[in-house]
Amino acid sequence: MVSPSGEQFPIRHEIPVFLEPEKATGSNRKYNRLYETIGGFYDDTQRVACALRGISQYQNSLSYLRFLEINPGDSVLETSVGTGLNFKRLPRDVRLFGLDLSTEMLTNCQANLRRWEMDADLFLGNAEELPFADDSFDVVFHVGGINFFNDRAKAIREMIRVAKPGSRILIADETEKHVKSTYERFPITRGYFKNRQQAVAAPVDLVPAEMQETHLEILWDGRFYALTFRKPSSAMPKLPAR
Ligand SMILES: C[S@@+](CC[C@H](N)C(=O)[O-])C[C@H]1O[C@@H](n2cnc3c(N)ncnc32)[C@H](O)[C@@H]1O
Repeated sequence: MVSPSGEQFPIRHEIPVFLEPEKATGSNRKYNRLYETIGGFYDDTQRVACALRGISQYQNSLSYLRFLEINPGDSVLETSVGTGLNFKRLPRDVRLFGLDLSTEMLTNCQANLRRWEMDADLFLGNAEELPFADDSFDVVFHVGGINFFNDRAKAIREMIRVAKPGSRILIADETEKHVKSTYERFPITRGYFKNRQQAVAAPVDLVPAEMQETHLEILWDGRFYALTFRKPSSAMPKLPAR
């Protein structure tokens, strides 16, 4: 695949590769190892987590996906799409795009999409450097992952850049309460989450001031946050002074 600037990117198993996961650095690299390890049973972990909370996976997804504003025919991008569990809950009459840094998660996403008879364009890359043009998508959202990105502000700026003016953006992830009581305790995840330098927090302060309707909602008995805001519509062209 050749970009408009002439750069070449390999396509592997139908997925354009914009960053090889092993070339990721810092926190992105550290957590990539976790997702490459658990990708094959990630969906099972989600099933069990919902069962333990006594809710269906449908209710779970809807608790945050209800913030999306989706219309028929929309182009919808999920950054850090994982195995595609959120796509399963979206209307069928939209065009889906998903980017993730984990080969294993995307491989399982492809298998899920085939099973659900759904179609999506998938990309292997870093959510902090989206390989899309400005103002491309009607809907842009992110669920899980951003808490431990190298540069959360950059990822948010990228989501805003590729979203169409006027669209609402959703960022959702777990709170410190959840990370402490769950990930710090499970044997497979403990090593990745113990002894962190910083507690996780919803990145409200990283939303640029010019965004509109910034709104934070805490869900699941304090264990999850959903942060939404609207990219301003294009400014009216200035009229010439008379
Ligand atoms: C908790 S999973 C969430 C998956 C999916 N969004 C969901 O709700 O089921 C986090 C995902 O973030 C991805 N991820 C982590 N760091 C990333 C980065 N820098 N760029 C893109 N994806 C990343 C992981 O590979 C993983 O698939």
